[in-house]
Amino acid sequence: MLENKRVVSALQKVLPDFTLEQISEKLEAPKSTDLGDVAFPTFTLAKTRHQAPQQIAAALVTEIDQEGFEKVVATGPYINFFLDKQVTSRHTLEKILTEQANFGSHTTGNGANVTIDMSSPNIAKPMSMGHLRSTVIGNALANITAKNGYVPVKINHLGDWGTQFGKLIYAYKTWGNEAEVKADPIATLLRYYVEFHEKAQDDDSLNDEGRAWFKKLENGDQEAHKLWQWFRAESLKEFTAIYDRLDIEFDSFNGEAFYNDKMDKVVDMLSDKKLLVKSQGAQIVDLSSINDNLTPAMIKRSDGATLYMTRDLAAAVYRKETYRFAKSLYVVGGEQREHFVQMKAVLSLMGFDWADDVEHISFGLITFNGKKMSTRKGDVVLLKDVLDDAHDLALKQIQEKNPALKNKEVVAEQVGAGAVVFHDLMNDRTNNFDFNLEEVVRFEGDTGPYVQYTNARAKSILRKADVTKIGDDLNLNDADTWDIITTLNAFPTAVQRAWQQREASIIAKYALTLARTFNKYYANSKILADDAQLNARLALVESVTIVLSESLRLLGVKSPEEM
Ligand code: ARG
Repeated sequence: MLENKRVVSALQKVLPDFTLEQISEKLEAPKSTDLGDVAFPTFTLAKTRHQAPQQIAAALVTEIDQEGFEKVVATGPYINFFLDKQVTSRHTLEKILTEQANFGSHTTGNGANVTIDMSSPNIAKPMSMGHLRSTVIGNALANITAKNGYVPVKINHLGDWGTQFGKLIYAYKTWGNEAEVKADPIATLLRYYVEFHEKAQDDDSLNDEGRAWFKKLENGDQEAHKLWQWFRAESLKEFTAIYDRLDIEFDSFNGEAFYNDKMDKVVDMLSDKKLLVKSQGAQIVDLSSINDNLTPAMIKRSDGATLYMTRDLAAAVYRKETYRFAKSLYVVGGEQREHFVQMKAVLSLMGFDWADDVEHISFGLITFNGKKMSTRKGDVVLLKDVLDDAHDLALKQIQEKNPALKNKEVVAEQVGAGAVVFHDLMNDRTNNFDFNLEEVVRFEGDTGPYVQYTNARAKSILRKADVTKIGDDLNLNDADTWDIITTLNAFPTAVQRAWQQREASIIAKYALTLARTFNKYYANSKILADDAQLNARLALVESVTIVLSESLRLLGVKSPEEM
C-alpha cells in the first residue's frame, strides 16, 4: 500500500537497527479496519530486547512521531497505525489520476524476458474447454508479467507432431475423403481420429500402421508431409477464430514440429554427457539420482521415433538460446505434472543452471455441468459453443436491463467472453471447478459481468457529471470512501503478489472487492450532489474506473462503456 512509506519511515526512526526493507516486509494489514490501517508486529524484537512483545509495542508507541497520522496505538503485541484519512485520500487520488493505467506498475523485471508456453492445443482436434484454461491463464499471466516490468513472450507450442498424426493420415487415406474434410475440416478429422481408436481396439495392427505413417512423416515423406500441412493449416484457422474472439495474440506459433530438426542437438548433448541409457531398445535418461520416485525420461522409442519429451527438451534449450529468459513458464494442466518434473530433471542433469528458472504453472480440471471432457471418445465441449451460449445469455440480460443500448451485439460479446474468462481466472488456478454457464454470466454475484457492470456504472456517472478535468480539491473523509481508498491503495501490492505467486486469481478477487466496495458507496451516497465535495467524489469515481478497467485488462477482459 502506498502510504506504507510514511509508516516505514516513522518506524525506522525508532528502530535504527532495521533497514527500510526489513521493516516494510514485516508490515501487515490489521484483522479489521477498526484496529487501524497498517500493523507492525513486535514478536521478532522480543529476543534481542528481552521483553514481552506487548511491552515492546507499548514502549515504542510513546517514541513514534505521530505527525501525519490520525493516531498510532499499541494493541497487544502490535503497533497499529491509523492513517490520516484526508491526506491519504488526496495522495491516493492524485497518484491514480496522474498515473492513469500505469498505476500499480512495477519495474522489478527490468525488461527481462519471460517465456510463457500457453494454449498449445493439438491440431486436427477442436479446441476444447480444456485448453481454455491454459489460454486465459497464460494470457493474464503475460499481462501481469509485463505490469511487473518483464517482457512476456507468448509461445503457442502447438501439438502438431507425434504418432497421432500418423494415425490420422492412415485413417484419412483408408476411409476418409477430401470433399468431406473440406466441408467441415476439424469435425471430420476428429471423427476419423475417434473412428481410428474404435477400430484399433479390435485390431491392434492399426496402431502399427499409424506408427509407420508417423515415421514416414518424420523422415520427410512427401505425401505424409502434404497431408500434415493441410491438416495443420485448417486447424490453425479454427484456433485463430477463437483467439480473435478472446483478443489474444501470440509471439510465436512454433509448435512441436518446429523442433524436428533441433532434437539431434539435444540427443547428442545427452549422449556426450553419458546420460543416455539403452532400455529394451529405447533410449532413456535415468532420473533416480535426482529423485528415487521419478520414472526415467524416454528420449527415443525403440523404432527411433522421438517423443513429446524430446521435443520439449529441444524447445527448452531453443528458448533459452533465443530469448535468454529470466523465467520460462509452462501453463499446462496438472495431469502433466510428472512430465515437467522429468523435463526439469533432465535439464539439470545436463548441467543447465537455468533449469531452476523453468516452472510448470499447473492448473486444475474444468468439468462442464459435472461432465469431464475427453477428445478420444468424441464427447467434447467446444469452446466455440460455450462462447456462443455466453454471448446469447449476455444479450438476453442486456435486452432486459438496457433495451436502448446501441451496440448490443458488441457489448454482448464483450460480456459473454469476459464472463467465461473471468470465471476461469477467479479460482486459484490449481483448484478444479465446475462450469455452469447460467451462473457465470450473471450480472450479480462473483462474476466478470458484475465487475464490468460496476465499472460501466461508474463511467456513466462521470458522463453525467459532465466534467472535463478534475481539479485538486481532493479531500474526502467518510467511512465508505475510506474503504475505497484503502482498496485502491492495495492494487500495486496485488499486482506484485499476482506475479510472485503466478496467480491471476489475485487480480480477479481484487477486482471483485473493489467493485463491491464501490457499489456499497454508490448505494449510500449522492455522488452528483452539487456541494464542495463534488470534485473529490468524481475523482474517487474516476480512480475506481481506472483501477477496475486496468484489473480487467490484466485479466484479458474488456470494459464496456455501457451495458
Ligand atoms: N499440446 C499439449 C496438450 O494439449 C500441451 C503442450 C504444452 N506445452 C509443452 N511445451 N509441453 O496436452
